[in-house]
Order: sequence, then structure tokens, then C-alpha cells
Amino acid sequence: MIKFDAIQIKYGDFVAIDNLNLEIKEGEFFTFLGPSGCGKSTTLRCLVGFLEAAAGDITINDKAITHLEPEDRGIGIVFQSYALFPTMTVYDNIAFGLKVKKVSPDLIKAKVLEAAAKIKISEEQLQRNVSELSGGQQQRVALARALVLEPKILCLDEPLSNLDAKLRVDMRKELKRLQKELGITTLYVTHDQEEALTLSDRIAVFNNGYIEQVGTPVEIYHESKTEFVCDFIGDINVLNEETIQHIRYANPEVSLEGTKGYVRLEKVRFTSVTDNDIVLKGQIVDTEFSGVTTRYAVKVSENQMINVTTIDQQSAIKEIGTEVELFINPTEVLQF
Ligand SMILES: Nc1ncnc2c1ncn2[C@@H]1O[C@H](COP(=O)(O)OP(=O)(O)O)[C@@H](O)[C@H]1O
Ligand SMILES: [Mg+2]
Repeated sequence: MIKFDAIQIKYGDFVAIDNLNLEIKEGEFFTFLGPSGCGKSTTLRCLVGFLEAAAGDITINDKAITHLEPEDRGIGIVFQSYALFPTMTVYDNIAFGLKVKKVSPDLIKAKVLEAAAKIKISEEQLQRNVSELSGGQQQRVALARALVLEPKILCLDEPLSNLDAKLRVDMRKELKRLQKELGITTLYVTHDQEEALTLSDRIAVFNNGYIEQVGTPVEIYHESKTEFVCDFIGDINVLNEETIQHIRYANPEVSLEGTKGYVRLEKVRFTSVTDNDIVLKGQIVDTEFSGVTTRYAVKVSENQMINVTTIDQQSAIKEIGTEVELFINPTEVLQF
């Protein structure tokens, strides 16, 4: 339903986004993922109408919105900084947009209560001042304030990044629930790959003003299309030229090319999985226990360290200095 067609966005002479093409489906939870400065917010601000495209068109259900005012686009917005009115009550904050639209007081009340209920803001909280609330609660209010206007599309720019880790995970679940319940098309901006993987129906991975790959979380993770995506979306081992050559020599049937290969940490194992596994001998030089998983750094040659993550019983956790064999299914080595 949302279509970016050859969109270019500039700040003065600086081209932040060039020739962006993208389609987002109705009801989708769609995430812009990428490192800081790659153009995620710029693209979102252009959709919302805070920035005008220098070229190209944005359409919603085939209707061009490229030059509409923000308030005429039917898009709700929540940013990282809540931008609430701190001296006003939660109720008045949520009601603000409706008042501007001159909705009748009775209807405003009904809508505010409905939005508050959806987001689990209690009636008691509605009467509090925004400044008395925690960061997480304020972010809920910001969400209610956007949703009360019943937008067709919801845009969220790093809405959880000011919250602490535990709260972020809770709010993530909550957002997902809400989005599924309301079925509202959602565009979400984050630099946090875990957030993107857990929340999204599809992800666009941005790099330096363009999109590297669009796909489902599973596709982005397991079938990364580029080196950049592969590296950005999770921890990865880079096999160097020497290791690739060693593998070619030891496993002539394995078709590895070039000078680099990539394999995810959890795909390197201490026990064999298939008959034609790549086998590398090495020594554990470092371990990192983090509860559910343990991460091992294994030195397999002078210039090649391979990291491995495993989920082990306590008794199976290996010590530094242990000589080990590493097994890799050749189909799990990515090359670009
Ligand atoms: N107001 C601005 N004026 C000039 N350049 C900007 C402005 N906002 C962002 N940029 C530049 O545009 C690029 C993309 O920025 P942005 O969209 O904010 O990245 P992201 O949200 O992915 O971190 C960066 O190079 C940034 O420096
Ligand atoms: Mg940003």
C-alpha cells in the first residue's frame, strides 16, 4: 500500500537518500534497520511529510502523497524523545490532537478512554502529570496520543532506545501485541538488530543511503544477500583466505571460492553434523559464559580465530586450553 518510487532526499546539496524504491504492504510491521547515519530517519521523515522529496513519488494506495502536508497524510508518529507536553496531564496530552481537530468534548473523552485502555494506561494515570511518569509510561502516552487519531499508518522512530534493557523487551512485546491487534501498518526505525528481528514482518537493511536487502527476519539472518547485511544482522566469523584454502585442500568436494567466507557462531559445532562437514582443529583461548549460552574463541591457526556459541549443560562447558575439533556444514558458509 505504501510505495516509495525512485525517491531522492537531500539536505542542501547533500544527497542523503538516492533512488529509493520500496513497497510496504497493508497491515505489515516493516522495519528500517541500519547503523546510525544511514538514512532511516530521513526516509521516515519524508514519508511523514517533515521533509520534502527532491525527486520521486510516495504513494499510499496508489494516491500520491509526496506533496501533502503532514497532517493530511493520515500517519501517526512516535519518536525517541517523547515530545509530550510535560506540564499537562496524560489525558490532555492524548486529547491534544483531537482538540486541535475540534472534536466534541464527549467524543474526545470516549476516544481518549478507548486509546488509554488499548495501551493499558489506567484512569488514575490519565489524571497524572506527564512529568511524574517513568520513561516507559511516557512512551505509552506518546503511543496513545498517536493512536487516538486513528491513523492508517503508524511511524515509530527508535521509540524504545531511551528505555533500559528489561523495559525495552517488555515494551517490544507490548508493541507487537498492539500492532497485531489493531492491524495497523507500522513503520519502525531501529539500529538494534535484535529489535528488528523480533518485531518485524519484513526488514529493509539500510547502509549509507541505500537499501542492501529487504526480507523477512529469517531471510535477512539466514540468507543475507551482502557482506554488509551478514555482518550487521548478527555475530559472524570471517574465514580468511588461508582457512578457505585449507578447507579446499581438506574437503575437495566443498565448493568454496574466493578469499573470504562467513559462518554464524551457532553454526560452528563441537560435534559432527553431516558426513561432509568441514573439520578444523584448534584450541580454546577464551570463554564467555552468559547464562543460556557460552561463547568460545577457538584459535585454529596463527591468523584465524573462530568464535562458537553453544547451549550446554554445566558439565559440558569447556575450559580455556582445551584442544577441540570444530565442525561446519559447508552449506552454512556464506560467500558473496
Ligand atoms: N538536518 C540535517 N541536515 C543535514 N544533514 C542531515 C540532517 N539530518 C540528517 N542528516 C544527514 O543525513 C544522513 C542520514 O541521517 P539520518 O536519516 O538521521 O540517519 P539514521 O536515522 O539512519 O541514523 C546522515 O549523513 C546525516 O548526517
Ligand atoms: Mg535516526
